[in-house]
Amino acid sequence: MKEKLIIQGGETLEGKLEIAGAKNSALPLIAATLLTDEEVSLENVPRLDDVQTMLEMVRELGKDVTSTGPNTVKITGSVSSNQAPSELVRKMRASFLVLAPLVGRTGRAEVPLPGGCNIGTRPVNLHLEGLEKLGVDITQDDGRIIARADNLGANDIFLDYPSVGATEQLLMAGVSAPGTTKIYNGAQEPEIRDLARFLTELGADLSLEGSILTINGGNGFGRGKYEVLSDRIAAGTYMLAGVATGGRVKVESVDPSSIKPLSLKLSKAGVKVEETEHSVQVESQGRPDNLEIITLPFPGFPTDLQAPITSLLTLAKGKSVVKETVFDSRFGHVAELSKMGADISVTDSNTVFIEGKKSLRGTEVEATDIRAGAALVIAGLAGEGRTEVSGMKHLDRGYSQLQVHLESLGATIKRVSKNE
Ligand code: UD1
Repeated sequence: MKEKLIIQGGETLEGKLEIAGAKNSALPLIAATLLTDEEVSLENVPRLDDVQTMLEMVRELGKDVTSTGPNTVKITGSVSSNQAPSELVRKMRASFLVLAPLVGRTGRAEVPLPGGCNIGTRPVNLHLEGLEKLGVDITQDDGRIIARADNLGANDIFLDYPSVGATEQLLMAGVSAPGTTKIYNGAQEPEIRDLARFLTELGADLSLEGSILTINGGNGFGRGKYEVLSDRIAAGTYMLAGVATGGRVKVESVDPSSIKPLSLKLSKAGVKVEETEHSVQVESQGRPDNLEIITLPFPGFPTDLQAPITSLLTLAKGKSVVKETVFDSRFGHVAELSKMGADISVTDSNTVFIEGKKSLRGTEVEATDIRAGAALVIAGLAGEGRTEVSGMKHLDRGYSQLQVHLESLGATIKRVSKNE
């Protein structure tokens, strides 16, 4: 059944929230369980559609997956198939990450190309070139990647761009390749560090120094128990919702350093930001000042918060500029924010110009991807009157209990079937 969110805007959000595990960490961790036959217990696993898709993927490939608590899952058993079902890869690009563990375990993998999506073309050339460097023979047949490796071998790999997915893919290949692999210009996102820690827990020998990852591969893997890192993007989304509604929101169980780019930008806009070791509190001091934002790989400003912060800036004092450099078309929220009365436009060079206004007005809008959806929810909460956000399938991929969390902060929000 198609559903939508109905938001009655204008409530000031106040309160605190416990942040759940990160989707972008849980997904590669679940893929990495294919590397071992032993039991792995994952804790702080967020309840999201994308996580369900990845669990279904490893189950299809032979693993036994048991939910042992609301946020805990036990994964065990051996790989019995090395062919990733195309309907799962189509649903979610991150399922392509099973390629390296499958080749590492079985010497062969068939995984459909993930193709494009709503936020840009998103090729996988860096994944494939890196795997070739480690001795994987790659061919393509009818939209499927066929990867074969009788013997993986360590090598030095330079990534032209610090792709998060390619770094994860190559980390998972490197741990299976006997010898020392070094990845230069690897991604430095906190989720990469989380995957590295998890692989170490399973028995891998690797170290990370800035953008250089050194892997002593070929060790074999055992059992493990691991707690997924908290979701810095969800934390950032709730911080922005708090500020946009003129309120005060504290996100707990997060590492403040992982959301520093956002916290510093918000401080610059005049928001009061207070950090403890595991929490960040933001408190609006009235309309924020205008900002210039440029998205970059970590530790730059995260592209996943580009749309959410754009919503805030439609309400800032003066002109803001937001430049997207990570993806080539991630602006599905812009036309929808215009419908809500925002003075906003996007140029061919992926730059959004915003003239801040005192208010937005509620209307019917549609989420085109996960973070565009989050941006529209923020705009709806901060806007006047009723906003209806459809495209829930996108929000369900990336935010667990969004409506419940926002209600707990004082939002008037309900989820209804589309014809209500
Ligand atoms: C991950 C995150 C996503 C986040 C993104 C950037 C997951 C599940 N998703 O996506 O939420 O927005 O990082 O922080 O963790 N590229 C290539 N060739 C490649 C691979 C990537 O050209 O082989 C390009 C992409 O098209 C894109 C850029 O590199 O323009 C960044 O992509 P990447 O870092 O790989 O993002 P994902 O891992 O897909």
